Amino acid sequence: SLPTHVTIKEVGPRDGLQNQPAEVATEDKITWINQLSESGCPYIEISSFVHPKWIPQLKDARKVAAGIKRKKEVTYAALVPNMKGLEGALETDVDEISVFMSASETHNQKNINKSIEATFPVLKKVIEEAKQAGKSVRGYVSTVFGCPYEGHIPVEQVINVSEQLLSMGIGELSLGDTVGVANPKQVDRVLTELARHLPMDQTAMHFHNTRGMALANTLVALEHGITTFDSALGGLGGCPYAKGASGNVATDDLVHMLHEMDIQTGISEEQLKNAARFIQSKLSAPLPSHLMQIINRE
Ligand code: HMG
Ligand code: MG
Repeated sequence: SLPTHVTIKEVGPRDGLQNQPAEVATEDKITWINQLSESGCPYIEISSFVHPKWIPQLKDARKVAAGIKRKKEVTYAALVPNMKGLEGALETDVDEISVFMSASETHNQKNINKSIEATFPVLKKVIEEAKQAGKSVRGYVSTVFGCPYEGHIPVEQVINVSEQLLSMGIGELSLGDTVGVANPKQVDRVLTELARHLPMDQTAMHFHNTRGMALANTLVALEHGITTFDSALGGLGGCPYAKGASGNVATDDLVHMLHEMDIQTGISEEQLKNAARFIQSKLSAPLPSHLMQIINRE
């Protein structure tokens, strides 16, 4: 049976904007995040504290974090790759820290310039220090369903990286279909296998919609009892260090599907639309979500 409530984690201001060719002004990011807060999003990943040469789009993370209006009921998170990133994030007093690594050796190397083995001690320290500072920590594992460089990723690699992160103390695992190659049958098979090893009640799904299968994949994950999903408003998103990556599953499409299925999210579809129109007006191309395509035809 399907859940009656799902938690949506909005990653648009981070995953969505990190791959944008248009430069979005800090003020506009702040306005957009405030609109997302007002829409009832319970969780917003607001930016990342990575190297500004690697992701220039998010070099204003400090200013964004300082400028937004925080709502008590919203969790504000920031992505960090290492201790230097954590120090920046802690200065801004976000609620949660997200760490990330890949189940694929090649993608890990291209994305954070380190082997998987060399990444573990770095993240161990980040997680320890973040928790000591009173922050909860979430851990992403990328390329769970396939890698643009290596192709097939054995599920054992996903289990290994996930178990290590969980043993380091992350509170939630987010499994990434980084380049949107997963199909529903594969999601069924992989989640069945992962459930034998990992705590699925601490597991979220992070689908990208590159090949249009993200909502179908979401349905399969719902049937497996997953109740937390990452998404980006309007379908923005993608990792610049994963060849061929494109947008996350669109928050507006996802929330609409869930509401139509009598699954609650606490998010206002009307307010989401306005937030999507706003950020679209600051970008160089229309947003790709289905709901925005309807609006853009009106
Ligand atoms: P590196 O060059 O190996 O870093 O980059 P380093 O530790 O050797 O340091 C080199 C220099 O960078 C030093 O400066 C450091 O201080 C500086 P110098 O002494 O030479 O003047 N430095 C930093 N500066 C600012 N912020 C920092 C930082 N760290 C070091 N945090 C690094 C390693 C990890 C920094 C780099 O590879 C990087 O920034 N990568 C980020 C890539 C990224 O953001 N990718 C997208 C996010 S992941 C994603 O999208 C997937 C996800 O959505 C899930 C999914 O879809 O699967 C999460
Ligand atoms: Mg992503």
